[in-house]
Amino acid sequence: MRTQVAIVGAGPAGLFLSHLLAQEGIDSVVLEIRNRGHIERRVRAGVLEQGTVDALRAAGVADRLDREGLVHHGLELRFAGRGHRIPLSDLADGRAITVYGQQEVVKDLICARLAAAGRLLFEVAGLTVHVLTSSSPVVCFRQEGREHELRCDVIAGCDGSHGVCRDAIPRGALTVYERAYPFAWLGILAAVPPSTAELIYAYHERGFALHSLRSPAISRFYLQCRPDETLEAWPDERIWGELRARLATDDGWTLAEGPILERGITTMRSCVVEPMQHGRLFLAGDAAHIVPPTGAKGLNLAVADVRVLAEALAAWYRTGRADLLESYSATCLRRVWRAEHFSWWMTAMLHRQDDDPFQRRLQLAQLRYVCDSTAAATTLAENYVGLEWV
Ligand code: FAD
Ligand code: DHB
Repeated sequence: MRTQVAIVGAGPAGLFLSHLLAQEGIDSVVLEIRNRGHIERRVRAGVLEQGTVDALRAAGVADRLDREGLVHHGLELRFAGRGHRIPLSDLADGRAITVYGQQEVVKDLICARLAAAGRLLFEVAGLTVHVLTSSSPVVCFRQEGREHELRCDVIAGCDGSHGVCRDAIPRGALTVYERAYPFAWLGILAAVPPSTAELIYAYHERGFALHSLRSPAISRFYLQCRPDETLEAWPDERIWGELRARLATDDGWTLAEGPILERGITTMRSCVVEPMQHGRLFLAGDAAHIVPPTGAKGLNLAVADVRVLAEALAAWYRTGRADLLESYSATCLRRVWRAEHFSWWMTAMLHRQDDDPFQRRLQLAQLRYVCDSTAAATTLAENYVGLEWV
């Protein structure tokens, strides 16, 4: 088998890269370890930056997003029993976020690739990547019991944080920057109309809570929990009790409850590898960097990376110029580190960290400042909707 670009992983990064390359007339094959149903049902992020929506629209894969996505012009910070609206669009040049589940983006991209007869191989096993510094790297894998070798010009490692591409780069060629956080998020999807029109990020002595949404009938919630906790420790009644307590206000706001459709625990960490390239292997999305979810940046960074990579590959194939490919890592890392900082800052401001009352007062001082100062609120707003110029 041969292709121009072998793409490992059919998450948002791999699928969108394949779509963008096809629009430039560049052939690719996407290799995915899971089956199609699994990746289409996997519940993950839900907040798309303005730039992500614009990119999906420009690439012709936003018809359903434009119909079903919920455009939000603000969000709420809730603490000490009161909500404070941050008017995102007023503070960030009219830009907004769109709430649309990551798995919906994945479904739309799979449909677009299959409609264009794109090669998408699911349920591949034992995938390995080879001769990365040669001009003809190779991907080996098994599918339906048969061994395959895929020869290509370039490999795109879009295989997420547990993939194999990053680990194929020799130790010593990469620097890894990491930070673990002493908490995790319990996330649920519930069949109940949202009790809010905009996302609520709540700081509370019992821990952080987030009220998000997916549609007029489906709500999404997150609760800060310990990283070593299991779902068994969180029966429905405890989940709703904690959400009620952490989201409570002094003005009689009530939380509507409903059947829980899905639940999971995600640990939180920051991680960046530098550079995001080794020879003809380019890492993109979670394969290269992880952010804690508080800033809602993971999916958006994945999309931003592959836009840079697709443009660089297009220039290389069209004219032979390699400068954009050579600067791929440096270009992406500017945005990545901005997002790492923003996610870390949001995480530090909103999570219960320990029993230190000094720390709690610092967090409350920061929250009040963000709500009372236009300059501070603008910092949150422009990062949250996504910076255009990084
Ligand atoms: P992924 O979506 O992880 O895609 C990688 C793909 O590669 C997967 O389909 C995987 O099956 C495949 N793969 C892995 N190994 C191999 C292999 N060896 N061979 C072939 N294929 C392979 N971000 C937020 O902003 N907010 C959130 O609430 C949020 N929640 C999350 C919850 C979970 C459980 C996880 C894991 C992530 C969450 N994220 C969240 C992060 C966000 O979803 C990711 O940043 C985003 O999925 C990155 O896209 P990606 O395409 O780089 O990686
Ligand atoms: C969602 C996820 C996030 O990480 C976040 O910061 C806001 C919303 C969500 O899944 O809806």
